[in-house]
Amino acid sequence: MPAAVPKPRRLVRSVKDYVNLGHNKVENHLKTQQSELKEELKPTDTVTYRIGQFLWTNFFGFVYHYVKSRFGRRHPYSAYPKQDDSGVYRIPPVASFALLSDWASDTEESDKVGRLAARYEPDYSIHLGDVYFVGTQKEVAANFLIPEASWPWGRCGSLALSGNHEMYSNGRAFFETLLPKMWIEQSGIRVVQKAGFFCLENDYWRVVGLDTGYTSVRNPVMEILRPPDCRLKDAQLHWLRDQVRLGNPEDRRGLLFLSHHPPFSVFREAFPEPARQLVSLLGAAKRPAAWIWGHEHRLIVYSGQPLSGEWPVHGRCIGHGGMPVELDEPADISPIVFRDDRIRTRLKRKNLGYNGFAYLRLDGPEALIQYVDLDNTLVYQEVLRIEEGAVVVEG
Ligand SMILES: [Fe+2]
Repeated sequence: MPAAVPKPRRLVRSVKDYVNLGHNKVENHLKTQQSELKEELKPTDTVTYRIGQFLWTNFFGFVYHYVKSRFGRRHPYSAYPKQDDSGVYRIPPVASFALLSDWASDTEESDKVGRLAARYEPDYSIHLGDVYFVGTQKEVAANFLIPEASWPWGRCGSLALSGNHEMYSNGRAFFETLLPKMWIEQSGIRVVQKAGFFCLENDYWRVVGLDTGYTSVRNPVMEILRPPDCRLKDAQLHWLRDQVRLGNPEDRRGLLFLSHHPPFSVFREAFPEPARQLVSLLGAAKRPAAWIWGHEHRLIVYSGQPLSGEWPVHGRCIGHGGMPVELDEPADISPIVFRDDRIRTRLKRKNLGYNGFAYLRLDGPEALIQYVDLDNTLVYQEVLRIEEGAVVVEG
């Protein structure tokens, strides 16, 4: 039985809390506890009460949640087909999307991006993962579910992918609290999202949401023995093969993949294993495709790159949804077609860029992508087109 959503209380967070945040699980769990303490204490509380709460929340709370999460079992994996639900959904030939990644930070910036995306009135909105700090029920509720939450619900549905931060708490709130609230309209009925991956399709495009989050975290001992590589689990691979029929060479529709983790990067560690698995699945159906991901907190448009050495993919990183936007220099600038390196502010001796989201509009064989910042400035736009089954960038 899914756990009940906790009584929602607004988390009080600032983007400053997130500057220099790493992928260290200890740090992220501690930050969640500190945030809860900040939320609980009132100015009228006595010193004794404050010390007691500090110990209880920061120390005991941290130890309890950290040990439970890091050494406890991950939430069971969920896969299609469920009864009457294959995870493959029909969308109209003209359909708009708000794509937000690394957005759920519950800050002034994420609120601004979320409310702006809602003004675009997208048919669908998709979160590409990472609910900060560790994806607890309270954090899911604060970003998506409480009345003041700023998640831009799509007119015809909203779906979510898991990042690594949801898995820092074993994915429990992702599967039990967030997914049951996500839905997509099919023939006038709201179908609830039942697994961490999905396929939306019309006669021209297939938008495939991949789950790379579930396998991005292991318990500390296993992480040393076998570092997580974000691989697609067997159940997801079987679904891609049998339900989506990804390897069908007669299917000439354009492929647009969405995931949290990057298969390619010139900034930080990338996770190429899912691309290798897809190449193997695609076989003769392997044609140039597009792939939008997050994880890195920046906006980058890459030129076509041969993933796994043989599969040309147009990659875009849109992890600038709600976290401090990183402006560090890449190791290699040559694959970058566009990057938003404008400085918005300076915090903790760091220059930070502009948060934003991607507005995607499918219209027959064309896909317009507009990259919009939190002030509603159109930062960059492009048109992707399907030519003989291959996704090409216009111009
Ligand atoms: Fe991430």
